[in-house]
Amino acid sequence: MSHRSDLIASDIHAYLHQQEHKELLRFITCGSVDDGKSTLIGRLLFESQLLFEDQLKALEQDSKKWGTQGDSIDFALLVDGLSAERQQGITIDVAYRFFSTEKRKFIVADTPGHEQYTRNMATGASTADVAIILIDARKGVLTQTCRHTFITHLLGIKRILVAVNKMDLVDYDQKVFNSIQENYQNFIQQIGNKEVTIIPISAFKGDNITNTSANMAWFHGPTLMQFLEMVPLLNDQHQNGHFRLPIQWVNRANADFRGFTGTIASGSISVGDTIKAQPSGKEAKINSISLFDRQLPSAVAGDAITITLDREIDISRGDLLTKLSQEAEIADQFEVALIWMHEENAYSGRPYWLKIHHQWLNCQITAIKYQINPNTLEHLAASHLELNSIAFCTIKLDRAIPFDAYEESRQTGSFILVDRFSNNTVAAGMIQFALRRSHNIFFQHQDIDQQSRAAIKHQKPCVLWFTGLSGSGKSTIANLVEKKLFADGKHTYLLDGDNIRHGLNQDLGFTPEDRVENIRRVGEVAKLMVDAGLIVLTAFISPYRAERQMAKELFQDHEFIEIFVKTPLALAEQRDPKGLYKKARSGQLQNFTGIDSPYEIPENPDLVLDTEHHSAEELADQVCTYIQQLHGR
Ligand code: ADX
Repeated sequence: MSHRSDLIASDIHAYLHQQEHKELLRFITCGSVDDGKSTLIGRLLFESQLLFEDQLKALEQDSKKWGTQGDSIDFALLVDGLSAERQQGITIDVAYRFFSTEKRKFIVADTPGHEQYTRNMATGASTADVAIILIDARKGVLTQTCRHTFITHLLGIKRILVAVNKMDLVDYDQKVFNSIQENYQNFIQQIGNKEVTIIPISAFKGDNITNTSANMAWFHGPTLMQFLEMVPLLNDQHQNGHFRLPIQWVNRANADFRGFTGTIASGSISVGDTIKAQPSGKEAKINSISLFDRQLPSAVAGDAITITLDREIDISRGDLLTKLSQEAEIADQFEVALIWMHEENAYSGRPYWLKIHHQWLNCQITAIKYQINPNTLEHLAASHLELNSIAFCTIKLDRAIPFDAYEESRQTGSFILVDRFSNNTVAAGMIQFALRRSHNIFFQHQDIDQQSRAAIKHQKPCVLWFTGLSGSGKSTIANLVEKKLFADGKHTYLLDGDNIRHGLNQDLGFTPEDRVENIRRVGEVAKLMVDAGLIVLTAFISPYRAERQMAKELFQDHEFIEIFVKTPLALAEQRDPKGLYKKARSGQLQNFTGIDSPYEIPENPDLVLDTEHHSAEELADQVCTYIQQLHGR
């Protein structure tokens, strides 16, 4: 055994070169805090041929240069992936360890067992071949065990190794092991046909890690290391081996060189093959394939390559190259599984950024179908998702993309959701299938368009979006503005919170999820009215930035005017025109904005109306002047 913790970078390269021919197995370990994960990993590193523990930093720095083999590149990407997460403001607590035996090399993602393990597991697990689930022999199958098993299942890890640890503390008793095995088998059956291997071990004492334990002669299965060395690898991420190359980079170095760079997610490609660029559907033949400086006749899954084509076709970052008759599906609406990884709740109707194979899209959760209790596998109704929630949802994108179902391809079927304001990664997602309506709903062409409707009314349609606390004066000012516009011969309509909530939105209350939906609908209605050529005024608290932004994005830039009706809480409360603040303070009314429900102040409103120092009449004039200037008269 040689300890390598003092290796320098050039040695690492030499070493890795030596290792190149070995297969790489990726696995994760999951368990509760005291199940002995660190002991197990320490033991594996200790008993492996070469110890390679503290080199991650050097590897990270040099990851681009080393290894010309797919496996090594993959590892580089894994490290890259991690730092990308960091850039997005999440510190993911996953340590990657590297070790090798005579037969294989290994990367283990050590995921911590504390509260936020779901997030960490999802990060470590997305490329893993095997999950080791640790059970403390003294405690047996816990809800955590079920939870981890379910998440690994959801993440598509096909092989599970259950290590019943601390057998030394139960006197290596076969009965204890058998009963745990039986309990676990009962649970796993509910999930479906999974390949599970269960091994009794003591990570601390070294039983059944590398060597067969004399203390448990009754056990005839493999040792943990034997299992890791024997288990078949998932060489290809796509079940059918279909060729998938998500384009990461378009290189226009000079006029006659256009290279397209990316890492092959699955399948293989050779010079001369015809490829299809999706979603455009344009075809071309491969002229050359290069990997760093080397020209190759062909390349396979895991290779980070640059290709050139025999003709100019338009390909951008995020496009997917496929082969004829193996094309990916294309859709803009999906059913997906989501693992919610952030403290900020998820609401149906709220927009997020979605990142899937190198491209960013606008995404909306259109419905939360059900949440799953991973301990019992029960389906639960849910109006929102919280940290660690696992749910099946429908989502809608702002354009159609090529994709595979996660079950078929973990790489081209997975995505992350990112909060649009904080830039935090909030969820990991797995595409289940495209919704049929995604293919069957079209936009009907109409000959009379917004322009003609507006022209006949001699006006420029727009929406005046008033936002502010209850009692701030939104309705009063909006009402005055409408009167002035009307007097000026304008065609207008005022959508007012209290009124809309008696009709269209009578099913909605004041929980966060209902407010999100309230504003989503109002945005859509205002959009229709602006399309009809009207000047629309909306007077809703609209307390959340995310939904005001969503409403704004439904319109052209000049059509949406955000007006912040600025009134200090104390003043609104003092006015209390409907007596609601009083009720809220005395506890008779829940979720009241400003009291026990937040109001997120607009960051960049087009207009701020100071109701503390000006009358409603003055402020209405201010709005009218603003529109006149904007519309050039
Ligand atoms: S929003 O938050 O979803 O935009 P909206 O503007 O439609 O609210 O409705 C706010 C009006 O509903 C308030 O002006 C007030 O009259 C009434 N209301 C009743 N309950 C509440 C509450 N819990 N919080 C705020 N407003 C409430």
